[in-house]
This record gives sequence, structure tokens and C-alpha cells, in this order.
Amino acid sequence: MRIIIDTPEKIAEMAALRYVELLSQKPNAILGLATGSTPIGLYKELVKLNREGKLSFKDATTFNLDEYVGLEPTHDQSYRYFMNENLLSHVDVPTEKTHVPSGIDLTKAASYDSEIAAAGGIDLQLLGIGNNGHIGFNEPGTPIGSTTHLVELTQSTREANARFFGSIDDVPTQAVTMGIKTVMNAKSIILIALGKGKAETIKNTLQGEVTPEVPASILQLHPDVEVYLDHEAASLLD
Ligand code: F6R
Repeated sequence: MRIIIDTPEKIAEMAALRYVELLSQKPNAILGLATGSTPIGLYKELVKLNREGKLSFKDATTFNLDEYVGLEPTHDQSYRYFMNENLLSHVDVPTEKTHVPSGIDLTKAASYDSEIAAAGGIDLQLLGIGNNGHIGFNEPGTPIGSTTHLVELTQSTREANARFFGSIDDVPTQAVTMGIKTVMNAKSIILIALGKGKAETIKNTLQGEVTPEVPASILQLHPDVEVYLDHEAASLLD
């Protein structure tokens, strides 16, 4: 595991270079993507580099981590909408090669892992981390062998995400998420954490025991993980 501590701006630039490198070596790479506030700087950088002709997604395939249950792709808080707004509609990736779990047809969750495998498996999975250590929407206690599945969101996750909705009552109570095993199957992983609110969970994730109670701690067992932290998120590390 490699830990890089820098400013959010530098992190976005450095993480973007990983994509430049990967897509130049393997133009048809399979990318695992995340939503939330954390990757927005990176996505801006990817859009810029794509516009400047420095990287192309034209042969790439994307699979997102998760989606809220009950939100249509056109709902402005759905993760499909987020991805289109922040990245996918602004780069040259063919829409049909972009995948976000369906929050409407829940029967599709069962085949999400096999779709990923059929595409060749994820080359680079991007992750943010929840205040409670969740990755994707794998909340504390999620079994390490889990594949894409339906989850009940915890109160703390719904509270954390209420900032994007009118009120907490509007935050869906369920989501579909890649499982821990789905994430761990990725060949390489980038985890980004920004801000003081993530400091404690980052300490537990990187320097605590590996336990399902801190889902991201399993990343200690993955052979190729790069963790990008700003100074605040890194502030409690030894
Ligand atoms: C989003 C996701 C979540 C977020 C996490 C952090 O697709 O899977 O695990 O990465 O909740 O969210 P932010 O970045 O908003 O702090």
C-alpha cells in the first residue's frame, strides 16, 4: 500500500496521471468509478486532459460502484446522473460502455459481477470512503465475500448524504453496491480521502486491524492500493 499526502489540487492531478498512464498502456482498460464529493476534483482534471487530447476514454469501459434504490437515472441525485454530469458526458467514452448498477430493476444486481468479469475485470478501481469506513455502500459488518448486492443504508450514511437532498427524509433507505469481493477483485485500487471528517476512519483503515467493522480496512490485504490523502485526512496517522 502506497500512501501519498498532498493538497486536494495536487491529489487530483497525481491521480489523473494514473489514468493517463493506464489508458496509454491499455486504451481498453476497465475503470471502476465512484461518486460523492471526493472524486469531483479528479473528474474535472480528467475532463480537462481529455479535452486537451492528453487522454482518451474512447475504448474504455466503466463500472460504477453503486446506485440508490428507487431513483431513476434522470433523477438529479441518482449516481447515473452524477456520473454523466461530472465525467461521462464530458469525455469521449461511448455511453453504452458505461455501467451504473440499476436502482430500479434490482434483479440486475445479481449479474453485475459477471458483467464486470466478462468485460475482463476492473483494472483500476477508484474509491472514496464513508465516515464509518464504508467503501461503495458496504456498511460496517458487510461480509468480505460479498458481491454486488442490495443494502440498507445506515442512519449515519443517510445523514452524511442528506446534504445533497432536500432533507434526510428524501435520502433513499437502500442502495445497490458492488460488494467487498467485487472491489478486492480489481487489479489496482486508488482510495482518496479529503478533509478532517475522514481522519479517524483513515487511521482505522490504514493502521487499525482488518475487520468488517471498518470495511475499508480490508484494503490492507490488497496487493496494489494507492491511498491519496490531504493533510487533514492524514492528520491522525502515526
Ligand atoms: C460513492 C461511494 C461512497 C463514497 C463515500 C464518500 O460512489 O461509493 O462510498 O465514496 O460515501 O463520499 P464523499 O466523497 O461524498 O465524502
